[in-house]
Amino acid sequence: MDDSMRNMGGNMMGNGHMSHNEVVSLNDSTGENELKIPSMLERDNEEEVAYTVRAQIGKTEIFDGIETNTYGYNGTFLGPMLRLDKGDTVKIKAINELDENTTFHWHGLEVAADADGGPHDVIKPGEEKIIEFKVEQEAATLWFHPHPEGKTSEQVYNGLAGLIYIEDDNSKSLGLPTDYGKNDIPLIFQDKTFDDKKQLNYRAAMNDDGTIGDTLLINGTLNPKLTVNKEKVRLRLLNGSNARNFTFKLNTGNSFVQIATDGGFLNAPVTLNEITLTPSERAEIVVDFAELNTANDLALINEDGSILLPFDVSGQNGETEEIQKELNDFALTSEEKSLPVTKEIELFGMMEMVTINGKKFDPERIDFTQEQGVTEVWEIYNKKDMMGGMIHPFHIHGTQFKIISRDGEEPAENEQGWKDSIAVHPGERVKIAIQFNHKGVYMFHCHILEHEDNGMMGQIEVK
Ligand code: C2O
Ligand code: CU
Repeated sequence: MDDSMRNMGGNMMGNGHMSHNEVVSLNDSTGENELKIPSMLERDNEEEVAYTVRAQIGKTEIFDGIETNTYGYNGTFLGPMLRLDKGDTVKIKAINELDENTTFHWHGLEVAADADGGPHDVIKPGEEKIIEFKVEQEAATLWFHPHPEGKTSEQVYNGLAGLIYIEDDNSKSLGLPTDYGKNDIPLIFQDKTFDDKKQLNYRAAMNDDGTIGDTLLINGTLNPKLTVNKEKVRLRLLNGSNARNFTFKLNTGNSFVQIATDGGFLNAPVTLNEITLTPSERAEIVVDFAELNTANDLALINEDGSILLPFDVSGQNGETEEIQKELNDFALTSEEKSLPVTKEIELFGMMEMVTINGKKFDPERIDFTQEQGVTEVWEIYNKKDMMGGMIHPFHIHGTQFKIISRDGEEPAENEQGWKDSIAVHPGERVKIAIQFNHKGVYMFHCHILEHEDNGMMGQIEVK
């Protein structure tokens, strides 16, 4: 397999065995609609950090004058942003108003397994559950989505996904853009396929390696554009697609800086011309619109040049504080680097033939145990098949980990930060240092959601 295929990862379409290299391209955004910003979820009362999150069925006007049947949290499509502070003790009343089972999974949150919302944590239609946890991790952009066994992909596809912002003293003192919706912008990227009635027909859209759509929605907005001031704007990118990888860049070729990974700030801003995110990965980047030549049409584009998000830089000059050189004190210690590999994970296959360590998911399956609070080194190996294989975005529940190496090499500067999901390329071996601060049974799986639902998922018990 050559390198051009290696990069296609989730761009493959698998309706039949010979179609892996068929690329479904995304239509350009025509920029007609101002980007929707998810509302910030309000507390249930003043006294405690208590929230209510309902999984609901609804109808959403994604296309003018047409109602699309969708799912949403506290609304008809996607969900509100849940803003938490480090140190908060949080109580969430999770209500299932769907007509099927669901779960509430907090992706990237360090919580006890019984609050994690994995496939064992089913809430039946009409039922509810109080979920409690304490926020003990640093500032980061996380997200939440359902995780019922075999049904994650369809429920996310239909619209169940929301953001979690964790803030802490550090994030508040760095002078970064924090004006939500103005210069601190969440961007949930999802590709969808609509049928001729403009419905999200999951079964029809699905193929074996996932749903690769031709229509981009950002925060549920069709043909979005973003109006910004001439200032530094922080974009919190989430690849919320079921299977598609995105490589983000500016159409002018200008650089931007990345300031955060999945689970927290990088130690220092990293200047990039492009960034690739596989499903469920996040990155926070800062684009300085005061520095860019706005005589040209500016847009965020994908690797193939398709326009994802045109910018309308019509606003005034804003306050533009310099980004500080020191953002965090993330460290991979030499001790962690020298630990032996104690857990080996082999990712294999494509389409329905996906396995972890040669097996498919089964709720009884416990692959490993690990002691609470003890760091171990896992090696994740993406074994090629006869077709060459594909990128598997590997995710572990309940914690954040550190990348030690990729094929023995130090990870790129912008991967030297907390991660909960990692793109593992065909043939690659990735070593990570990982510790769990809570007990219970946690999932690890491929975040191509169709792979997860097809059983590319194992479990670890933390004792
Ligand atoms: Cu984002 Cu197991 O999930
Ligand atoms: Cu996979």
